[in-house]
Amino acid sequence: MEQTFKALVVNESAPGVFDRQVTTRTLDELPKGDLLVRVHYSSLNYKDALSASGNRAVTRRFPHTPGIDVAGVVEQSASDQFKPGDRVLVNHKNLGTVLPGGYGQFVRAKSAWAVRCPESLTLRESMIYGVAGFTAAYSILKLQQFITPDKGDILVTGATGGVGCMAVAMLKKEGYRVVAATGKVEESQFLFDLGADEVIPRDELKGTEDALCQCRWAGVIDTVGGDILATAIKSTYSNGVVTCCGNVAAPELPLTVYPFILRGVNLMGVDCVSCPDSAKVQIWEKMGGPWKLDNLEEMATEVSLEELSEKINQILQGRVKGRVLVNLRA
Ligand SMILES: NC(=O)c1ccc[n+]([C@@H]2O[C@H](COP(=O)([O-])OP(=O)(O)OC[C@H]3O[C@@H](n4cnc5c(N)ncnc54)[C@H](OP(=O)(O)O)[C@@H]3O)[C@@H](O)[C@H]2O)c1
Repeated sequence: MEQTFKALVVNESAPGVFDRQVTTRTLDELPKGDLLVRVHYSSLNYKDALSASGNRAVTRRFPHTPGIDVAGVVEQSASDQFKPGDRVLVNHKNLGTVLPGGYGQFVRAKSAWAVRCPESLTLRESMIYGVAGFTAAYSILKLQQFITPDKGDILVTGATGGVGCMAVAMLKKEGYRVVAATGKVEESQFLFDLGADEVIPRDELKGTEDALCQCRWAGVIDTVGGDILATAIKSTYSNGVVTCCGNVAAPELPLTVYPFILRGVNLMGVDCVSCPDSAKVQIWEKMGGPWKLDNLEEMATEVSLEELSEKINQILQGRVKGRVLVNLRA
């Protein structure tokens, strides 16, 4: 078996100055773990771009190989849970943030961080979903506990982004009427093709001083935070559900308590890292089964490691549409 492999490495070339290069690494540079996984696909998430651009809230130490998503095949195993040849998905809060992640052709991981890739998904499909699809599915499962399709419209913010586009397509599959809010109205057709019933410019949700706004949404899947999330909460019907997973617009939430105490709006946080293991398996099986999307390929742009750096710049500027799939075999 080969002892070297290709990886994207982020270096701090001078204090606060970061560059990215595809270089050769050796297996013995990888950390300890009972699984050695040959990575077939990874993906680009907003968090990966933060890590790859030196954001110390995500990654403190450089040189570093990002990539929070990993789909691959077990090459060596010291665990009785997995054997060489098993197809696995690996995810853990430290993988790709503290420890070298999926932007290398091999990762070493603890077997507790791996789940079997469902039979019904190829490794490629599993990474079109990736953390983004998982987060969308987890958000929708939370919303579904209280909101059925007959209750009214569901708003999705950051709709052309990774989590957003997955949420649009999954909600449609579950029978909801979906309103997609986007900063890229020129991409409306992409959103209609995924299943949006209506597309609105994100400016419609700009901040307002009012404590409450006219009710529009039975539920909201928010991926951006800030003023947009605040306005979405103020416009949610009584007893509606708003899920919150991201902060690309802002981490602040300028709001009063009135939507909660006068309308009983429910704000539900979504953190896929702390999702219980049993729910993780269930969510992946749902994505490979009843929720399997017909339009997965339409969401994906495939890049090699060498082409990834440009996409990292684009996602930081909010310019990526859909999911970026990273092919480590290319
Ligand atoms: N909590 C968790 O477990 C979890 C898991 C996964 C992701 N996340 C978070 O969820 C968020 C989305 O992740 P992602 O990977 O889907 O990112 P992404 O692909 O970059 O999508 C984000 C989308 O938000 C919109 N947007 C970008 N900049 C904006 C701005 N300044 N103001 C308003 N909207 C803006 C854009 O969509 P439009 O142009 O269509 O508006 C963009 O495509 C990130 O904050 C990420 O860290 C959290």
